[in-house]
This record gives sequence, C-alpha cells and structure tokens, in this order.
Amino acid sequence: MYRFIRPLLFSILPERAHILTVNLLVFLRYIPFSGMVLRWLYSYNNKSLEREVFGLKFRNPIGMAAGFDKNGDIYNDLSNFGFGFVEIGSLTHVEQIGNPRPRVFRIIEENAIINRMGINNKGVKHAVSYMKSNKPRLIIGGNISKSTSCSNEMAALDYEKSFTQLYDFVDFFVLNVSCPNVKGLVKLQNITALSEIIDRLTAIRRFNDEYRPILLKVSPDLTNDQLDEIIELILISGIDGIVATNTTSTRELLKDNGAAIEAIGDGGLSGEPLFKRSLEVVRYIHKKSAGMLPIIAVGGVTTPERAKEMLDAGASLVEVYTGFIYNGPGFVKSILKYLSK
Ligand SMILES: Cc1cc2nc3c(=O)[nH]c(=O)nc-3n(C[C@H](O)[C@H](O)[C@H](O)COP(=O)(O)O)c2cc1C
Repeated sequence: MYRFIRPLLFSILPERAHILTVNLLVFLRYIPFSGMVLRWLYSYNNKSLEREVFGLKFRNPIGMAAGFDKNGDIYNDLSNFGFGFVEIGSLTHVEQIGNPRPRVFRIIEENAIINRMGINNKGVKHAVSYMKSNKPRLIIGGNISKSTSCSNEMAALDYEKSFTQLYDFVDFFVLNVSCPNVKGLVKLQNITALSEIIDRLTAIRRFNDEYRPILLKVSPDLTNDQLDEIIELILISGIDGIVATNTTSTRELLKDNGAAIEAIGDGGLSGEPLFKRSLEVVRYIHKKSAGMLPIIAVGGVTTPERAKEMLDAGASLVEVYTGFIYNGPGFVKSILKYLSK
C-alpha cells in the first residue's frame, strides 16, 4: 500500500510531509480500534527477538532513531509499527526553532536525505509534561543536546539541566554531541569537553535511586584516533554504551555528488549512502572495545539485510530513520521477520 501513498507524500516538501504524518498519527488515536488494527498489520512478536541490553529488556532490537519524534509526542503511536524502542528528541533545555526552512531534502535516487534542521524542538519541559500523562508502552531513550544559544564552555551545565528534568521519565539517555547542524556541537566530541559533561551526569546519577544508562552518539566523520579516545573515555567513565552514528557532513558517499547536491548546501546526509561508513564505525568500536561496549547501530539501514549486518558487526540494537521514510510502515516488521528466520 505504501507504494501508492509514498508518491503522494513525496510530492509534498519533506518537512511538511513529516508534520502531516505526525498529525495523522495523532488523528488515528480518535478512530476506534485503529491502534489494534495497526498492531495487527505491523507488529511482529517472537521470543527470539527479545534482548537484554544495559540492564533493560527490549521486546525486539529495532528502534526509531532520534529526530522523528523530536518532541516526545508520538512514541506510543510509533509502538504500533513494531518498534522495540523509540529515541525521542533531540531535546534541549529550552524550546528552539532550529535553522531557517527549507532544511530537509530528499535524494530519492539514492534513498537518502540531507537535513539541517538544527535541533528544532519544544524543549524538555514539553516532553516531560506529555509523558506524565501518557505512560510509554515501550522503552524510551531520551536524546538530549546542547541548546544552540548556549556556548560550548557552558555545555555541561546545559546538558545537566535537561538530564535532571528528564531523569524520571525515560529509560536511558543518549547524549547528542555529533549533530553537524548546530555550529560547534561536534567539537564537544573532544575528550576534555566530553569528560566534563559525562562527569557531571554520572555524578547526578550516583545520587539517584534509579539507574539510567547513558550512551554517547558519535559522528561517522570521526577519525579512528578520535574514536579510540572516545572508546577509552567511555570505558573508564562508567557510561553505558555508544550510538553509532549520526549523519555525515561529507558528500563523497553519494553516487552522484553533482550540482544538484551542491545547490542543497550544508546539512547531514543520512540513508543508504551512509550505511558503509556507519557499519565500519560499528565494527571498529566493537573490535576496539573487545565487545565490552553495547552499541546501538544507526545509519543507512534501508533493508532487513542491512539490519542483520549491523547486528553481525557487533551492534546490540539497531535504529532506523531514513529507511522508515523510504520503506514505509511495514519496514520494521519486514526486518523483524527476517531476523527471526
Ligand atoms: C530529518 C532528520 C532529523 C534528525 N534529527 C536528529 C536529532 O534531532 N538528533 C539526533 O541525534 N539525530 C538526528 N537525526 C539523525 C538520525 O537519528 C540518524 O542518526 C541518522 O539519520 C542516520 O540514520 P538513518 O540513515 O537511518 O536515517 C536526524 C535525521 C534526520 C534525517
């Protein structure tokens, strides 16, 4: 059916299509039995798919990557499409509007997207107030990022505010220090800046009764030396894992990197062209950490086979975003069926 709906959706500007989809999901809540029908169509349960990772029990290893449910409004609606978990956000301490539009571009021939959203979101407070009255039916990762208005020097305090407010409402945290669309954010991947952020958050966690795993989301554009430093820091700092990877700033991964792509301008590339690099990063981290670091693999998973390749490379869990846009609502089920074969 998505074969017929996709051309319609793709005839609308990508960001409008996204807003329309979110509104449609909200509208469906008011149609009796719609959730049941969606689950019947799109979920797939099998004991062999269950996973226990960083102390949490996942009903399956496939999650929605950050950026789709930016505000933490539709995680339960997404659970109807078979996801084992949803990463909400990136959320910042205060609401922010992001970069000027247009800021999302489809590259249909390559099953890819370029975006420079710039972490537009309604802020942590909005997500918390929604979650208070809408108990999640699946595992929720809270992806937090530095507010754009905050300098890198003050970043640790900014992350701390989001972390503290969100602590009681999510199952695990992801620290986004790798979005290429916020000026200077990727510089927080340097060890001094990272240590300051991680030390603050782990200290707060120590004083809480409940333990929340903390993961770091890295860029695919890091060198092996930079990855080595990060892996070492994670292993000694007591945080729980790594999300690999965010979008890439390079255009070299595209088959056709011509004038049309240049005209789009800055932004992070996701989808099919990113897969090879993300897989390489996942494999590298797994090997370098001797399998000790739980990895959530994300980047270019556009087929069920690619999800399996990520798991075979050492990932414990896999997330999708662009693949879901191109394949539609049955994508997670097709991956889960393939994995349980
Ligand atoms: C439109 C769009 C918005 C995104 N927003 C975020 C975000 O707010 N925070 C984040 O950590 N990653 C964000 N991402 C990156 C994704 O979570 C993911 O890491 C990346 O797209 C690679 O996965 P994919 O190839 O399956 O899309 C965004 C991606 C897209 C396409």
